[in-house]
Amino acid sequence: MDILTAIKGRKSIRKYSTKPIEEEKLNKILEAIRFAPSARNGQPYKILVIRDAAKKAALRKELEAPAYFEDAPVLLAACGLDHAVMNNGQIKDTIDASIAMAFAVLQAYELGLGTVWTAGYDGEKMKKALGIPAQYSCVTVIPLGYAAEDPDPKPRKELNEIVCYDEFKE
Ligand SMILES: Cc1cc2nc3c(=O)[nH]c(=O)nc-3n(C[C@H](O)[C@H](O)[C@H](O)COP(=O)(O)O)c2cc1C
Repeated sequence: MDILTAIKGRKSIRKYSTKPIEEEKLNKILEAIRFAPSARNGQPYKILVIRDAAKKAALRKELEAPAYFEDAPVLLAACGLDHAVMNNGQIKDTIDASIAMAFAVLQAYELGLGTVWTAGYDGEKMKKALGIPAQYSCVTVIPLGYAAEDPDPKPRKELNEIVCYDEFKE
C-alpha cells in the first residue's frame, strides 16, 4: 500500500472487535513511532501500551468514555515530557508526540487495524487512572484493534480552501 492510499483510506473507528492484536503488528506500530521525526531528535515521550482489561475498564470509568476504550484490545497513551515552548511558539512534546502517533495511526491502517485519535478527555484524570507521573502530559490515548464498523468516509475541504500559493489568502 502506498502512503497516500493509507492516508486516504484511514478512518476513525469507534467500534472494535475484542480480537487480540498480533504481537508482530503491535511491534511494527511501535517502530513507526520510534522512527518518527522530533525536534532535535529528542523523542520527548513515553508510549504506554495498555492491554490489561482492568486498567482499560478503570480508565473508561474515570473518563466516562465510550465502550471502545474497553473493547479495543490495546490502548496507546502518548505521554509527553518536554513541555518547552519552541521558537515558533509551539509546545515541543505535544508536537513531537502527535507526529509520532500520526505515524502509528497510518501504520496501523496499513496492517488492517483501526484507531481513533482522542483528545476530548481530561488529561489529569487520564494520568491518574493510568498512573502516569505528574511531569508528563497525556497528549492522546488511541484505541487500537480490529474494526467492528465500517463508517462512511468523512468529507474533506477542497485543496483551494486550505492551500494558497505565494501570497497568503484568507
Ligand atoms: C486532535 C484530534 C482530536 C480528536 N478527538 C476526538 C475525540 O475526543 N473523540 C472522538 O471520537 N474523535 C476524536 N477525533 C477524531 C476526529 O473527529 C476525526 O478524525 C475527524 O472527524 C475526521 O474523521 P476521520 O478520522 O474518520 O477521517 C480527534 C481527532 C483529532 C485529530
